[in-house]
Amino acid sequence: MKKVIVFLFVTIIVGCTPKTASDNILPIRPNDPHSASRPAEAMTTHLNLNLKVDFDTKTLEGFARYKIDNNQAHKLILDVRDLDIQKVTIGAIEKETTFELTEPKPFLGSGMSIDILPETEMVTVYYKTSPDAAALDWLNPQQTAEKTDPFLFTQGQAILTRTWIPCQDSPGIRITYDATIEVPIGLLAVMSAENPQSKNESGVYTFKMEQPIPPYLMALAVGNLNFGAVGERTGVYAEPSMLEKSVYEFSDMELMLIEAEKLYGPYLWDRYDVIVLPPSFPFGGMENPRLTFATPTIIAGDRSLTSLIAHELAHSWSGNLVTNATWDDFWLNEGFTVYFERRIMEALYGEDYTNMLAMLGMQDLEEEVTYLGFGHADTHLKLHLAGRDPDEGMTDVAYEKGASFLTMLEKEVGRENFDKFLKDYFETFKFKTITSEEFVNYMEEHLIGNYKLAVNWEEWIYGPGIPHNCPKTTSDRFALVDAQQQLLREGTPPSELKTVDWTTHEWLHFIRGINTETDLQTMEALDETFNFSESGNSEILSAWLILSIRNGYGKTLLPKVEDFLVEVGRRKFLTPMYKALKETDQLDVAREIYKKARPNYHSVSTQTIDALLEFSAEG
Ligand code: BES
Ligand code: ZN
Repeated sequence: MKKVIVFLFVTIIVGCTPKTASDNILPIRPNDPHSASRPAEAMTTHLNLNLKVDFDTKTLEGFARYKIDNNQAHKLILDVRDLDIQKVTIGAIEKETTFELTEPKPFLGSGMSIDILPETEMVTVYYKTSPDAAALDWLNPQQTAEKTDPFLFTQGQAILTRTWIPCQDSPGIRITYDATIEVPIGLLAVMSAENPQSKNESGVYTFKMEQPIPPYLMALAVGNLNFGAVGERTGVYAEPSMLEKSVYEFSDMELMLIEAEKLYGPYLWDRYDVIVLPPSFPFGGMENPRLTFATPTIIAGDRSLTSLIAHELAHSWSGNLVTNATWDDFWLNEGFTVYFERRIMEALYGEDYTNMLAMLGMQDLEEEVTYLGFGHADTHLKLHLAGRDPDEGMTDVAYEKGASFLTMLEKEVGRENFDKFLKDYFETFKFKTITSEEFVNYMEEHLIGNYKLAVNWEEWIYGPGIPHNCPKTTSDRFALVDAQQQLLREGTPPSELKTVDWTTHEWLHFIRGINTETDLQTMEALDETFNFSESGNSEILSAWLILSIRNGYGKTLLPKVEDFLVEVGRRKFLTPMYKALKETDQLDVAREIYKKARPNYHSVSTQTIDALLEFSAEG
């Protein structure tokens, strides 16, 4: 049945739409340097996953059964890392077969070459994960909000899915899946799939994902979770004590979904839910289809950090429908998503609000480019990550330079035309993967050709730094903040500054504008007046703590820095905080704190911070 569907897609696209330059290159997928798989020979198309979750041994055990498109091959190649493979069988009769693993490589793991027959259509791998599997975060009850039950979540992007499922772990592959997951009774399991909304008595949950997705979007979370509806198609999963707050925080989710559809076409994934994870989640959000995984640090109480939800929702089009073919094309996922996120935010909250988001984003980009060095290859949109852990090259460049490129194009052709272009783009490439080059072909035909543009796209995509025609955003609200900042610099005491009605973003801009040379007396007065170090808003608190470390006021705040670093595992906050400690000659302090905090972090974060602090887990 699935084969028929895939076949139909191909016929519809190849057979019925007018031929374009991009059509000709679509079926040939580029080599993905981060996957050993050879999909041209045998390609996985559907996964039947069956796993038992064991919190005592911190393992998942069971099988992954694939349907494959077999091009008369004798081998099926999967990616695996740190998996204990018990047995492999072929066909519905499950005849045992042989396999070989290549020598494991850092971050890539091994290629698993399975002996199949030219007519084989089904392969089953029996296996068990390692307690150290990089995708998996096993939390003890103390690390959860409720403190009564353990918790497990996975993180697949970029190349971690292979540490919990043997798979063709390339974003250029798409599979549908169904799954049966057994968990301790009393806990709920949810996946990037059609999900249950309440616990059952058996602890066995079944899942279905009927739209084909790349393996990096496979996701599972298990814990004491409840569900709360937000709208007709939207809702939130969270631990019981977090649920009400989360539903309040995300009350506009349904509206975001409606606005997104108005912009770029129907939402093709049925429901859109968010799960609020424990604070060790290493990202702000992760766009697992149908179920965004989110950090609890965006629950600010005032709905001020919800652009993150707009971002992950936007990935339902840019990323999940139209997927970067390799991690070198990451900007096609993130740049488009940031652009789309801001369009959703603008539709709901207006231009003033969105200009603030864009300005903060630009500041991040400028800082990143300065840090990397203007000519650095990682400041190109198109990356060259072969031989490297793709995670390393995924910087603000893809997000903010990518979004700026699209904003520049929008300004060239006008918003209406650009929206039509993007809507057609999503329609044309839905459920496909795309390289930067295929995008260029499409853009040349449908934008540059159509509107007779002369734009420097080569410089944007293949060149370094920030091109001269990068659109400048201005913000009236930030201009008012700047004026107060100026007064502060000239000696006006903080209590006399005009800050009424400032929102999170104005405060962030204000804190970012404070000179790291500011004397300790002024810092103290600022803290006394505005209570930054007591802020319940994670963005404001972390910005303040980082500034404080950099100018010496942090010594007073060290216990707060430690509390924050022990509690929160979101890498975006950790990296600059540890970096600030290191760069102010407090490497010892950083390492002491890290020793305590490290058990609370996911491998994504420990990998970055280990390197930063030259810390080895063995001591
Ligand atoms: N897909 C990313 C997270 C990601 C990127 C995971 C690269 C692994 C490798 C997600 O959509 C994202 O961009 N999250 C951001 C938030 C966003 C609002 C910029 C984050 O986690 O900070
Ligand atoms: Zn993203």
